[in-house]
Amino acid sequence: MLSSPERAADALLDWYDRSARRLPWRAPPGASDRTPAYFVWLSEVMLQQTTVATVGPYFNRFIARWPRVQDLAAAPRDEVLAAWAGLGYYARARNLHACAEHVATTLGGAFPETEPELLKLPGVGPYTAAAIAAIAFDQPATPVDGNYERVLARAYAVETPLPDAKPEIRAHAEALTPQQRPGDFAQAMMDLGATICTPKTPACGLCPWMRDCAGRRAGLAQELPRKRAKAPKPTRYGVAYIAMDPNARLWLQKRPDKGLLGGMLGFPGSDWRETPPDDAEVARAQPFAAAWRAIDTEARHTFTHFHLRLSLRVARVSDTGAAEGEWVARERLDAVALPTLMAKAARLAFSQLDQDTAG
Ligand code: ADE
Repeated sequence: MLSSPERAADALLDWYDRSARRLPWRAPPGASDRTPAYFVWLSEVMLQQTTVATVGPYFNRFIARWPRVQDLAAAPRDEVLAAWAGLGYYARARNLHACAEHVATTLGGAFPETEPELLKLPGVGPYTAAAIAAIAFDQPATPVDGNYERVLARAYAVETPLPDAKPEIRAHAEALTPQQRPGDFAQAMMDLGATICTPKTPACGLCPWMRDCAGRRAGLAQELPRKRAKAPKPTRYGVAYIAMDPNARLWLQKRPDKGLLGGMLGFPGSDWRETPPDDAEVARAQPFAAAWRAIDTEARHTFTHFHLRLSLRVARVSDTGAAEGEWVARERLDAVALPTLMAKAARLAFSQLDQDTAG
């Protein structure tokens, strides 16, 4: 067990002073200039479900293009969604823009400084509110993420499986959070989890808490945290239609705001359901009549709650009738920022259509 919360927090902060990762959004440890709330908020929203390595370049591009929250608020939403493409979970990008607008217009460009006020912002949940309060405003808030949870499950040898263990772990986290430098403390926990107290082979020899860690003493560090068995992810099925015109442009439609990949561009097609679409459903999902052909390979993609298998129909088309949508040139597909699933589908369609041309 960690000796006392104060001593444990001091040891961790000493370690952080020596070992903090340099991250694009982060002020160095103990710096008098704290990271602006805008940077903390933007990085935390990006980091939900996405790794630090992936987020770095996105964060830098966003900040270069929209240096202040007012700039992000003033940007057209489609440009923000396009800049977000590839980070996934597009509802986050829509909330991001809504939140920027709210802060810029209703709050005069200043983020609130307390957890309860932060929680009222669009897309800001308890974790993000605590992270902003701690990191940007040095309030003794406790943003417990997955890394943080793993470190404490080990330090206190919590054997209850997650997610049942969450309240117990949170109680330990709150007891440890120091009044001095709570923002650095939170980031130190995240760094310890990411660099030393890693999921598979923790580097206990380098850990500032090595001697006191109850998990290590019990020989359990590597096995913790325990996790309740998850239900396997179901598979869903659908069909998508990919039309190419004589100038090698592809026909794309904007997806409805609500639902998966909301507001993003995609290929028209069926809903995604538990069973593969039958012939009638496949026919009904056509955006317009054309000589559609099935291709051999499905586009497969895994979302948070299911695997998707999307069968593809391709056709060369010059007239789309009254269908709603737009032609996008092959070279522009990167710029319009297709979600990863749709980019996979486009690649498969091109390889089929190119083969037809070569043949
Ligand atoms: N993961 C989520 N937020 C983080 C942060 N501020 N620093 C390091 N890792 C993080």
